[in-house]
Amino acid sequence: MGKDVIIACDFKSKEDTLCFLDKFTGRKPFVKIGMELFYAEGPGIVREIKSRGHKIFLDLKLHDIPNTVKKAMSVLSNLDVDVCNLHAAGTVRMMEAAIEGLTREDGTRPLLIAVTQLTSTDQEAMENDLLIKEPIDKVVMHYASRAKKAGLDGVVCSPLEAEKVHSTCGKEFLTVTPGVRFADGDMGDQKRVMTPEDAKKIGSDYIVVGRPITAAEDPVAAYERCVNEFVD
Ligand code: C5P
Repeated sequence: MGKDVIIACDFKSKEDTLCFLDKFTGRKPFVKIGMELFYAEGPGIVREIKSRGHKIFLDLKLHDIPNTVKKAMSVLSNLDVDVCNLHAAGTVRMMEAAIEGLTREDGTRPLLIAVTQLTSTDQEAMENDLLIKEPIDKVVMHYASRAKKAGLDGVVCSPLEAEKVHSTCGKEFLTVTPGVRFADGDMGDQKRVMTPEDAKKIGSDYIVVGRPITAAEDPVAAYERCVNEFVD
């Protein structure tokens, strides 16, 4: 898969989501469905969006015992999503079980990427809450390496980490990066941000963009601007 822009469809209902997607009459964007929409609408929303011709990154961040994750991944694989994810903190065994569950009878499977440390977790929280005393950068790269060892395809990371992930895990190991803003846009609650153009320069494989597109006056134009800066 080449570089692409993934729109974070952080909407509360099917109606809001489909009304937004109806605006895209040309190129069908790759979309991310997160917990809010999935828990509100169930697997039907995935089938509906898929049947409209969109690729889907199902962002449910699984983390449980290996057997449970394996079975859950098998269900997601049958939903025909293109990318799904889990927490690398679940261990290599859990990640290997996830791949087993995801792999269909014909040997194909969705891409599987790992969350390393959430960007909401800082050094202090990691030390105090998780009792991990190493520098957060080192922890992120370690988790990325473990994900690679387990056979995963990449990680979700800050665009600022993408270069280092590639040098640690190889250029083929995918970096999917949220925290993207236009140079003249609003930061919202994101702190460490990058423009689509810079994310391209530092080698992000996919950018995940939410509000700069979903809250734009003209979402299709904002999406096309992202594609022009990042892909073309
Ligand atoms: O609206 P915005 O562009 O900030 O949306 C970014 C999307 O990426 C949201 O769905 C958010 O939950 C997700 N995300 C993130 N930072 C992470 C992981 C996921 O912003 N570290």
